[in-house]
Amino acid sequence: MSPVKSVCFIGAGFVGGPSGAVLALKNPDVEVSVVDLSENRIAAWNSDALPIYEPGLLPVVKEARDAETRPQNLFFTTDVRGTIKRADIVFICVNTPTKTAGIGAGKAPNMAYFESATRMIAAEAEKDTIIVEKSTVPCRTAANMREILKAIGKPGVNFEILSNPEFLAEGTAVADLMRPDRILIGSMQTPSGLEAAEVLANLYGSWVPKENILKTNIWSSELAKLAANALLAQRISSINALSAICEATGADVGEIAYAAGLDSRIGSRMLQASVGFGGSCFRKDVLNLSYMAETLHLPEVAAYWQSVVAINEWQKSRFTKRIISALYGTLTGKKIAVYGFSYKKNTADTRESAAISVVKDLIAEQAKVCIYDPQVTKAQIWEELDISGCHIDDVEKFVTIAKNPYDCASDSHAVVVLTEWDDCRQVDWEQIFDIMERPAFVFDGRRVIDAGKLQRLGFHVESIGRGNPF
Ligand code: NAD
Ligand code: UDX
Repeated sequence: MSPVKSVCFIGAGFVGGPSGAVLALKNPDVEVSVVDLSENRIAAWNSDALPIYEPGLLPVVKEARDAETRPQNLFFTTDVRGTIKRADIVFICVNTPTKTAGIGAGKAPNMAYFESATRMIAAEAEKDTIIVEKSTVPCRTAANMREILKAIGKPGVNFEILSNPEFLAEGTAVADLMRPDRILIGSMQTPSGLEAAEVLANLYGSWVPKENILKTNIWSSELAKLAANALLAQRISSINALSAICEATGADVGEIAYAAGLDSRIGSRMLQASVGFGGSCFRKDVLNLSYMAETLHLPEVAAYWQSVVAINEWQKSRFTKRIISALYGTLTGKKIAVYGFSYKKNTADTRESAAISVVKDLIAEQAKVCIYDPQVTKAQIWEELDISGCHIDDVEKFVTIAKNPYDCASDSHAVVVLTEWDDCRQVDWEQIFDIMERPAFVFDGRRVIDAGKLQRLGFHVESIGRGNPF
C-alpha cells in the first residue's frame, strides 16, 4: 500500500479533536483533518479557546495547527465531504449516546450518527480507503458497515474496516494519548485486513513502542473496549457497595481499598469510593454491553452488568438521603453549598455527572442550592438540570451560582463536595466555618477532605464510606 498522506477524523469532540491533534503532532508528514458538522465547534478548534477544557491540549493543537514552528499539518474544517475524498484513512469518532426513544431506549446505543458517517464515507470516497471505528460501538458493528459500504460505495473503490477503540480518559487525555497503555487494532484476518492493520500500526509506531500495539481480530477489538469500561465501572460499583457496609459498621472504605489493592492481583487503581461514577462513557457502555447480552439471549449476563449501573444509581440517591437525614429530615429553605458540578476534576464535561442527580434531589427537597465549579458554566448547569427533568422554574427559584467557594458556602447549612477539584478541597476551612450557619455540616462525596481536621474545627463531617469508628 502507498504511504499514508492524508487522514480524516470525523467528529471534533472529546475524542476526535485530541486524537487528531496528537496524531498530527507525531506524524508531521501526514495531513490530518478533523471535521465536524457543527460550525461553532470547528470555529472554536481554530481559535485559542478550544471547545473542550483539557490540560495541556492547546500547545499540542497550536504546534501542528498554527505553522509557527513547522509546516501546518492539522486542519479543523466543516468540509466533511471534501476531506473524506482526499483521505487514505478515515477515523469515525462521532458520538454513540444511549438511545432515548424506541426499541432499547435507555440501554442500546444510538448508532444513527455512526451510520450516517459510514454512509457519507461510502458515498464520497473515490479511492481505496481504510475506515477506522474509533467511536465505542457494539460488537459486530463492522459487519453492518461492510453491508452499507458494499451497497453504496463507488465501483472499484475498496474499503477495509478496522476497529481501533479509544481508551483516553478526560482530564488526562493528552498524557493518555502520548503514552497509551496500549493501542488496540482489530482487523479482519484476511491479507488485506492484516495489511490495513499494519498501515495503522505504523502511524502509531511513530511514537508508541511496538510492543504496546496490540493486533486482534476485529470482533475482539470491538468487544474489548466495552469490556474495559465495564470492568473499570464494575470496580467502582464494587468499592461503592463496600462503602455502604463501611458506613454501617465503622470500617473505612479507604483502608479497605488500600488493604485489598496491595494484593497485586487486585491492584490499587479505580478503587476510590465516591458519590458515583459519571462521564459520557461508563454508564452508556455498561448498558450497551448489558443490552447486547439481552439481545444475544443471555439474560443472566445482562442482569450482571445492569447491576453495576444499578449500584451507581443507588449510591447517588443514598448520598442525598444521608444529607437529608443528617440535616434533621428537612432541607426546606436551607442553603446547601455544592462544590463541583463536572463529573470529575480537570474537565468541564458534565455528562452523567453525579452532581446532576444530587442537585435534582436537593431541589426536590426545596433546598436553596448554591453551586461553585471552576470550569462549568451556569448555562451548562441549567441545561443538565433541564434535561434531567427539573422544572426550569424550580431551577431559577432554588439554584444560584457562586464565583468562588467562599461566596458559595456563606450562610449555608452544609457544604457538599461532589467533584474533587483542587480549589474545592484546598479552601481555608476555618474561614468557611466562620461564614456558615450552625451546626456546620460537610458531606464529602469524594473523600478528599481531612475529616479529622474539620471535626476539630467544629464541623460535623460525613464522608462516603466512613462510619462511626467507636
Ligand atoms: P462528542 O459528543 O464530544 O463528539 C462527537 C462529535 O461528532 C460532535 O461534535 C458531533 O457534532 C460530531 N458528529 C456527529 N455526527 C457527525 C457526522 N455525521 N459528521 C461529522 N461530525 C459528526 O463525543 P466524544 O466524547 O468525543 O465521543 C465520541 C465516541 O468516542 C463515542 O463513541 C464515545 O463513546 C467514545 N469515547 C469517548 C471518550 C471520552 O472520554 N469522551 C473516551 C473513549 C471513547
Ligand atoms: C473512562 C475510562 O477511564 C477511559 O478509559 C475511557 O476511554 C472513557 O471512560 P472517563 O470517564 O473520562 O474515562 O474518566 P474516569 O477517570 O474513568 O472516571 C469516570 C468516573 O468514575 C468519574 O466520575 C470518576 O470520578 C469516577 N471514579 C473514577 C470513581 O468514582 N472512582 C475511581 O476510583 C475512579
